[in-house]
Amino acid sequence: MKLHIRAMLKGQRGRHLSFHTPGHKRRGEDITELSYSDNLLSPTGCIARAQQDAAHILGAARSFFLTDGSTSGVFAMLYALKARGARRLVASPFSHRSVKNACMVLGLEFVPLKGERAEGIPLQPTLKELAARIGEGDALLLTSPDYYGNFPPLKGARALCDGAHIPLVIDGAHGAHLHFSAEYAGRFADMWVDGVHKSLPARTQGAVVSARAEYAEALEEGVSLFRTTSPSYPILASVEYAVKYPRNLKTELLAQALKREVGALANADWSKLVLPFGDEADAAQRALEARGIYPEFNDGNYLMFYLSPCTKAGELKALARAIKKLPRGKLHFAAGAREEGGEATELVPLSACEGRLCAKECGVFPPCLPLVERGERVSAAAQRTLLSARSTFGLEEGKMRVFLEEP
Ligand SMILES: Cc1ncc(COP(=O)(O)O)c(C=O)c1O
Repeated sequence: MKLHIRAMLKGQRGRHLSFHTPGHKRRGEDITELSYSDNLLSPTGCIARAQQDAAHILGAARSFFLTDGSTSGVFAMLYALKARGARRLVASPFSHRSVKNACMVLGLEFVPLKGERAEGIPLQPTLKELAARIGEGDALLLTSPDYYGNFPPLKGARALCDGAHIPLVIDGAHGAHLHFSAEYAGRFADMWVDGVHKSLPARTQGAVVSARAEYAEALEEGVSLFRTTSPSYPILASVEYAVKYPRNLKTELLAQALKREVGALANADWSKLVLPFGDEADAAQRALEARGIYPEFNDGNYLMFYLSPCTKAGELKALARAIKKLPRGKLHFAAGAREEGGEATELVPLSACEGRLCAKECGVFPPCLPLVERGERVSAAAQRTLLSARSTFGLEEGKMRVFLEEP
């Protein structure tokens, strides 16, 4: 399939004196809106053609390229929901922070589902729960798949939304590679975002947000409000490339076999290899990194390895060899009890947070999912995970915000 944006960039490789932004003044692909390069904000040329192709491939009425990650797609979709009358969004408490942030900015009420965990892994909502709670919102947002490769009940959720006459929105930040398959978000959602930089070969921040006809206009308005006015052409070109990238069945099959061979979680997404290392997780990460093998994240129990159609067979075999040598530890995932906190809070060092009542959700980044939630007693396991994490969110200068309690 023709790559329209790449062809435009290649076609302009002659003399080019840059008296325009960007300030690095180098020739090359990192250009701005010039007479020949179309304009993402009102495309009529190569970008328009590339987006039309993407919509066709993804089964959408309209698709919009994003150079600001799935985050801006989530904001645009939630704007479109609000513009079309929604006021309350039912979603998992494990939704990405962009969902909660967009609700806050847009004045949408975030109606959290239960958000349960099993063996330390955040679970998707069940169909039973969705059926019971769907009436509490004007729209439903699902994350599909999630960082651990699990899917929500997509077919059932679609039927519930149809029955309740409310839209279904899918955060597919981790599902762009699925557009070949039956679980693809675009087969179920009214609007959905594909994080093509995560599971397809786009540059970091490349994403696509799409809509069925009914939501296309509102989504276009949302996109125009939240996206940068200086989109990166290298990212745009890579988004088109990623959407048109062919399926790699060889890697998919190898990945499925590898999962069984190394005792990974039996999830349904071939691209997410999740391995339980328990209290050996930090040591396993160090040992792998010493051999040049870098996982996507270590949540304190599990190491997660992110695959894509560009993952080579040799790389998978090297990973399998290295993993098999590593000891597996005991999983620890005692969730703390939930309680009401008062008004007053204080910051405490992580070394003193065990047993305290958390006042601000925090966790390891990535996956950027709450490890300790507001109103949860901090367990020893959670404290250990936060203490050894390389990167966290929700802490303030390395300290945890907790509720002040009567001694
Ligand atoms: C479920 C989910 N949604 C949205 C996002 C945001 O994507 P991006 O980083 O491309 O803005 C992430 C990022 O990790 C995510 O995990």
